[in-house]
Amino acid sequence: MRNLNENTITQAVLDRQSGVSETRLGQIMSSLIQHMHAFALEIDLTEDEWAAGIQFLTEVGHKCDDKRQEFILLSDTLGLSMLVTALNNRKPEGCTEATVFGPFHVEGAPHYALGEDVANGAKGERCFVQGVVRDIAGNPIPNAVMEIWQADSDGFYDVQYQGLDQHRGRGIIHSDADGNYNFRTICAEAYPIPHDGPVGRMLEALGRHPWRPAHLHFMIKADGFETLVTHVFRDGDKYLDSDAVFGVRSSLVGEWVRHEPGETPDGNYATLPFYTMDFDFVLNHDAGTQKA
Ligand code: BEZ
Ligand code: FE
Repeated sequence: MRNLNENTITQAVLDRQSGVSETRLGQIMSSLIQHMHAFALEIDLTEDEWAAGIQFLTEVGHKCDDKRQEFILLSDTLGLSMLVTALNNRKPEGCTEATVFGPFHVEGAPHYALGEDVANGAKGERCFVQGVVRDIAGNPIPNAVMEIWQADSDGFYDVQYQGLDQHRGRGIIHSDADGNYNFRTICAEAYPIPHDGPVGRMLEALGRHPWRPAHLHFMIKADGFETLVTHVFRDGDKYLDSDAVFGVRSSLVGEWVRHEPGETPDGNYATLPFYTMDFDFVLNHDAGTQKA
């Protein structure tokens, strides 16, 4: 095919992959090509602008390593991660909603018994978290595997510290026979997503801030239920309505209650103020195991 112009090139590219047009890959690529071409046509993209776009994507790639995932940050800050999360987590009313996974989950987090301190030395004010894991009918879910991760009071996850060979502010617990869970940790605080790279420069150029409202991450798994990846956000946080990655849902906002020094929920005595946060989770039955 020759002599292609702005009106004929899109179809020519689609025709070139017609052999896979019935496959999922074929459908995805066909849609992507049409949207990309439409985008270039719509804004009359100049060669310099496209070169700048390629340069930007190159820098995003160069910024990635085993600790830093700039492409996830790009997807998150463009709202694409949250869109994909919403598309793939349509649940019945009453189930806990899902939100973005983020780039700071790591495999191999330590296991803790109920009540133990998952902060493990992470900096911050003491906080006691508790609640129940249930199904949509209100039945407790025993032995749900709950993975928790969070930033410290300086706004950093353990994996962001060079040379720290310890898990801090993350851990795995199991709900008890009545679906109850509880653990000790540190108070969640707002923090900026990593913004010392191309995504940070993009945000600045667009007049956007990099902050996320204070939150705890949870990933909850139980036999017969869909895995839930979500956060609990801290009520009152000034960034709840401008989360840099568009992840906030009203149903996921919890109350961090401040207490003066005194007896703590684990029966000890705190000489400094501490916080409690109660939050219940409702898991959705796996398709195929839906209960009547
Ligand atoms: C996080 O909450 O850990 C996160 C999510 C998206 C981008 C950066 C951080
Ligand atoms: Fe986070």
